[in-house]
Amino acid sequence: MLNSLCPMTANPHATDRTESLERGVPRHVAIIMDGNGRWAETRGLDISDGHHAGYENIRRVVADFSNRGVRFLTLYAFSTENWNRPESEVNGILGLAIAVIAHETRELHQSGVRIRHLGRVDRLSPELRDQLEQAVRLTKDNVGLTLGIAFDYGGRAEIAQAARRMVEDGVAANEVDEQKFNEYLYTSGMPDVDLLIRTGGDFRISNFLLWQTAYAEFYSSETWWPDFHGEHIDRAFSAFKDRNRRFGKRI
Ligand code: IPE
Ligand code: IPE
Ligand code: MG
Repeated sequence: MLNSLCPMTANPHATDRTESLERGVPRHVAIIMDGNGRWAETRGLDISDGHHAGYENIRRVVADFSNRGVRFLTLYAFSTENWNRPESEVNGILGLAIAVIAHETRELHQSGVRIRHLGRVDRLSPELRDQLEQAVRLTKDNVGLTLGIAFDYGGRAEIAQAARRMVEDGVAANEVDEQKFNEYLYTSGMPDVDLLIRTGGDFRISNFLLWQTAYAEFYSSETWWPDFHGEHIDRAFSAFKDRNRRFGKRI
């Protein structure tokens, strides 16, 4: 799957902000992988087939983004709100997640991918929690693409837990600033998102990376997630390149 990944450089985490951005390539891409249900519906398939096709696409896009020079890729796989879906669908997604992590981790590791889990762990089954923790542990020293898997992730929950943990750690009020918050978020050590992609045609953030997308460029694609790869990514990158990122300045 990842044979086509680009060779990993000696210390990509030190890649300075300007390097990829100057080439018009976003350093950190985050994706709201939406549209699995509609993809299945239009084909007369079951929702579980849609989620399966969605997971299959992850294999493709990790290679696609890495090959295009992206250093950080964060994928929204399951939100804190997705627990409210029918039990059979939730169980299907959880089962699929276990299978995918079990199946893909070795190859990702061999390709130098560093896996991070972003989200709560306390509501996951012991099996899924173990799989995730093992994948994170195994790949933690890798220096290739950092792959953030947002699973049982909610932006508001993340910010609330960061505040709670700061209080628990006895952080003094005058030490609480943006830098300190960054250290306590799930994404600690990762740069802000440059490009936020949503597939499936909606223009909503759905509680994803509320803090980290403060100055992200937003790109919405009509394409449903299982079909979003290759040329669709090129189109998103081309749109990103044309954006004028002012960060509040007069440029
Ligand atoms: C996104 O696809 C996957 C998850 C939220 C887990 P959906 O299942 O939301 O697909 P649509 O929006 O119903 O088409
Ligand atoms: C967002 O998709 C969550 C994930 C892609 C994991 P949803 O389908 O859950 O979002 P809404 O309900 O349309 O906002
Ligand atoms: Mg959806």
